[in-house]
Amino acid sequence: MKNIVLGVTGSIAAYKAAEIASLLVKKGYQVQVIMTPAAAEFITSLTMQSISQHPVHVDMFNTLSQWEIEHISLAQGADLILVAPASANLIGKVASGIADNLLATTIMATGAPVVFAPAMNTGMYENPVFQHWMNFLKGMGYIFIEPDEGRLACGTSGKGRLPAPEKIVAAVEQILDVRKDLDGKHVLVTAGPTREPIDPVRFLSNHSSGKMGYALAREAEKRGAQVTLVSGPTKLAPPEGVKVIAVKTAEEMFNAVKNLFPVADIVIKAAAVADFRPRQQAQEKIKKKRAVLSLELERTPDILSYLGEHKDKQILVGFAAETRDVLTNAQDKLNRKNLDLIIANDLTQEGAGFEVDTNVATILFKGGSALTLPMMTKTELACVILDEIIKLFQ
Ligand code: CTP
Repeated sequence: MKNIVLGVTGSIAAYKAAEIASLLVKKGYQVQVIMTPAAAEFITSLTMQSISQHPVHVDMFNTLSQWEIEHISLAQGADLILVAPASANLIGKVASGIADNLLATTIMATGAPVVFAPAMNTGMYENPVFQHWMNFLKGMGYIFIEPDEGRLACGTSGKGRLPAPEKIVAAVEQILDVRKDLDGKHVLVTAGPTREPIDPVRFLSNHSSGKMGYALAREAEKRGAQVTLVSGPTKLAPPEGVKVIAVKTAEEMFNAVKNLFPVADIVIKAAAVADFRPRQQAQEKIKKKRAVLSLELERTPDILSYLGEHKDKQILVGFAAETRDVLTNAQDKLNRKNLDLIIANDLTQEGAGFEVDTNVATILFKGGSALTLPMMTKTELACVILDEIIKLFQ
């Protein structure tokens, strides 16, 4: 997961920093916010804290030793520092080596790329002094996102508006060199559990959290794919830029996937589909009059097997969560369901399984080769899986 330090300075556009932070978080970045004291006059640190899900760093000289540690750790941990909106004051300070606030010192101490999105009155922006320092910083390798033209808060019109948050985030992603190697590809991901109703209040399901499938959808979108996520019930927020189709039962998932399959280039079935459902769904709540209740179960459609039978151009990826004979069982599923690759998880291993944020996996390929991976986050595993899928296209 990439770390972005978002610096917010005192500008009327500071409120847009909330939207920028929100977009970055939705895209899966870790966002640490530093606000200058002037920024805190325009937007509260509580807003930024709630959105970034991290404590916000506002300048305070009262605990100098803590402040020293803070700016060094932020500077070293950052993959990129984005200052949006960036005031003329902050840019002038950085250019002339003045580091009298936490944001300026962090910028000075970092080795990460620093991106400024200036926002100010047109006169200030066009002022030769500001232009001089901006060009000086550009020459030093600092990156600037050009402001938009339009109506400014001061009532005038001209250059100086902070560009739309989406535009700023897109520029950041480009700088972070997020590969767009899935550009133009349709990726269909399924995630989460399914619920098979017993009666109007009860269902059969499993412990799947949906985290692996959501991570795959999010990473594929970041890499330029057009992503549809068919999701069983989860507590997760829909990934930014991904079309989510919510389903409950295996049958509903089957129908959604069948419809989307012809246009998909890649299908990743991370969902934990229930294999059985009650043969009959009681129309009324089942009462507990009897001592024993038997449920007759029938098989649900095996979605992946259907796709394996009907595939033409699609790359088909399955998951096998096992508790024994992991690789043998996974290999068997790969063959039976006509897959291109399968990700085998040993549920008995620490750090693997349903609710956790990590996974321990082995990727098995159609040709018989295998890639054994160490424990990693589900986001990291999603990246590795996508890398392997892309190799199949080449
Ligand atoms: N799968 C599916 N439809 C089902 C059951 C499973 O599409 N009705 C998919 C899962 O999304 C997963 C893969 O098949 O990608 C393997 O699922 P798993 O439950 O491990 O395998 P099963 O085929 O159910 O085999 P078994 O019951 O023998 O473990």
